[in-house]
Amino acid sequence: MILRRAILVLLLLTGIAEAQPARRHMVAAGHPLAAAAGLAVLRDGGNAVDAAVAVQMVLTLVEPQSSGIGGGAFLLHFAGGSGRLTAWDGRETAPAAAGPDLFLRDGRPMPFMQAVVGGRAVGVPGTVAMLEAAHREHGRLPWARLVEPAIGLAEEGFPISERLARDIASDMARLRLDPGAAAYFLDAQGLPLPAGYRLRNPALAETLRAIASQGALALAQGPVAEAILAAVTGHPANPGVMAATDLSTYAPRRREAVCTGYRRFRICGFPPASSGGVAVAQILGLLGHFDLPRMDPRGADAAHLVAEAGRLAFADRAAYLADPDFVSVPVRGLVDPGYLTARAQLIDRDRAAASPRAGNPPWREARYAPQLQDFEAGTSHVSIVDGDGNAVAMTTTIEALFGARVMVRGFMLNNELTDFSFAPEQNGRPVANRVEGGKRPRSSMSPTIVLDGEGKLYAVTGSPGGARIIGYVAQSLVALLDWGLSPQEAASLPHVGTLGGAVELEADTPAAGLAPALRARGHEVQIREMNSGLQIIRVTPDGLLGGADPRREGVAIGE
Ligand code: GLY
Repeated sequence: MILRRAILVLLLLTGIAEAQPARRHMVAAGHPLAAAAGLAVLRDGGNAVDAAVAVQMVLTLVEPQSSGIGGGAFLLHFAGGSGRLTAWDGRETAPAAAGPDLFLRDGRPMPFMQAVVGGRAVGVPGTVAMLEAAHREHGRLPWARLVEPAIGLAEEGFPISERLARDIASDMARLRLDPGAAAYFLDAQGLPLPAGYRLRNPALAETLRAIASQGALALAQGPVAEAILAAVTGHPANPGVMAATDLSTYAPRRREAVCTGYRRFRICGFPPASSGGVAVAQILGLLGHFDLPRMDPRGADAAHLVAEAGRLAFADRAAYLADPDFVSVPVRGLVDPGYLTARAQLIDRDRAAASPRAGNPPWREARYAPQLQDFEAGTSHVSIVDGDGNAVAMTTTIEALFGARVMVRGFMLNNELTDFSFAPEQNGRPVANRVEGGKRPRSSMSPTIVLDGEGKLYAVTGSPGGARIIGYVAQSLVALLDWGLSPQEAASLPHVGTLGGAVELEADTPAAGLAPALRARGHEVQIREMNSGLQIIRVTPDGLLGGADPRREGVAIGE
């Protein structure tokens, strides 16, 4: 642990040696084996969406604590030929029988972790159905070919990584409660399997074979669906209310990306039910009123402005962002340049605002009570650019570390429903992100594609990290676009962020040294570890440059 932190501090302080630009294509993903599977697909003539399918299937196996076929994902696609962007929404949905009281006990929100573990918070998985829909529209290689690498690895086994070993050890007490997870992640004595141990997953290989032949139908009905239902509704301590029809009627959505201008670029992010695209657009829209390019990326002036812009964006997020199929979200008003110009006037260069409130954006139809809390998450991000200039930014999640801590047929079930507000109302007014049957919980995932002034692909970025994703991604964009940092420097930059209240500074980095200067401007400051996992690709005249966050195990590889 001490050695790991020492290495991380060294990487954050010095950056990582830059690789040579890749001439043809590149994959940046949260685990080297997943990235390698994606690269092999590109080499075989597959495109960015084909590679994303292969990466996701392998991540299910090798990074089971963060994402998988039991979860949900957002995939933003850029078509190199037409320049068209498509937002593929594979967010989990609440079962039809779930209602606003799902997370209430005696009328009060239940303790968070009691909601997470078990069947209660499991949303209807959407990742495979979404990938299938995106592949049907954009894919080039046969679907079954894309699932093959994960089947082979699941059968042969893979070495448990340092991070997975640490996560198993830290979560051992919860994993032990689920017979499937305990048998898989713990040894015969009930102790965590160590790094380097070759872990085989024949159950997942069998599930993946069904997915290879039947696609998403393999999770919607039949033995895997029945196993999901049994695990969710039959959970001994914390059952959920999922029904067979929830699985058989799940449908991914195809949506419009949220695109806004920043300097000479166009930033395209993911629309609701993610809050990510709107919040990142707001932060940049506010920062566009200040001369960040002339500021020190590691200085207090920039940190103050980034924090103040983030606090304003989070105030709007709490009031307005939720599933647009259930709530009228004024996306256009929230990113309206006139509205953001007025909001930017609230930022004092020298003083933190006392307590930023949500604004009154145009085209607002309804007013909801703000949501009060946000929590951490276990998620992964994948960035891909193929040889035809197509790009994928996909952020994928099972929500918490190991999701609901329930293993079914070789994969972990998500606990995505804890991304809903536990409290359905505040002071007699409904919360936009309250639980409702069939609704998608609000996300912070922010897969982002940047275009230059001519509409050409410029960069692909995204990160895991719960609600902090928004700050990580916004900071990576400022680093790339205002400060001209390379993808690797941007991914390694010490974090300054906020969830709407205190300014958060990354522990054990120079960012923590900004605390006195920010306190002097009236900020409440918290110094904490930041668990980002940025995966960035930038298009340059010399080829594709990649950056992988040194805080996790990801790599950016190309050729
Ligand atoms: N569960 C992480 C997110 O959707 O923001």
